[in-house]
Amino acid sequence: MTQLQQVKKAVAYINKKTKNFKPEIAIITGSGLAGSIPPLEKKITISYADIPGFLRSTVPGHTGNLIFGTFKGKKIMVMQGRFHYYEGHPMKDLAISIRTMFMLGVEKLVVSAAVGSLDMKLKPGSVCVLNDHINFMANNPLIGNHEKEFGPMFFDLSEAYDKKLRKATMDAAKKLKISAKEGCYFAVTGPNFETPSEIKAFKKLGATVVGMSVVPEVLVARQCGIRVLGLAWVTNMGCGIAKTPLSHEQTISESKKIEGKFKDLLETVLPKI
Ligand code: HPA
Repeated sequence: MTQLQQVKKAVAYINKKTKNFKPEIAIITGSGLAGSIPPLEKKITISYADIPGFLRSTVPGHTGNLIFGTFKGKKIMVMQGRFHYYEGHPMKDLAISIRTMFMLGVEKLVVSAAVGSLDMKLKPGSVCVLNDHINFMANNPLIGNHEKEFGPMFFDLSEAYDKKLRKATMDAAKKLKISAKEGCYFAVTGPNFETPSEIKAFKKLGATVVGMSVVPEVLVARQCGIRVLGLAWVTNMGCGIAKTPLSHEQTISESKKIEGKFKDLLETVLPKI
């Protein structure tokens, strides 16, 4: 089966379950951030496991649901729990969920993730509003995966992260007194955290924050013309800057402290975008 056929199957199943609900904005929740979703009206939840052709999340802290509903008049879909390359999914399979969103009608994507910070002004609890990325994963979900229905093979990334969406978010963060700064996401495969020397090198290359997701999703979204807002929530300072060893438990416990702020930010930004 081609990926196009696989996505069409998933879309047909979802459309049947939601009675052709056409979401305009999609949100992907990162590690420990599944509880940040604003209250949705006429909510419909579908487990990934029930969707033909869909992947399954294997990481603790990542629930596996698609949620559909309306918030202040905006039609929203949430991908509660994402797929990571380090779980062993083939890179090109990471395109399935984003291409499914596109075929459902999504025009804007909010990607969130837990990250390590390389910027002393972005402490744990702050949000880095992404203005660019560096793909250091040495792989790409679009390789060997071109389907013309999902956009051109070659496409521009001079504004991977939408300027207007960034501005709306920075304004909302200021209003809500949430510590926020624009910056560059540096994508690694994981699953290990970095070494102190890697963090020093990534900083020299232009990284503001480092993480193990986001970029594959953004590449697929941009190819099909979905506008992207990237919210990287700092759960720790990068290795070597942090005073204590890093752990996934810390990522999850710090994310739990962030969920409320993330929810407030979404509730302010979503009606405006
Ligand atoms: N590095 C990579 N990914 C992460 C980190 C980190 O320090 N913290 C949360 N996700």
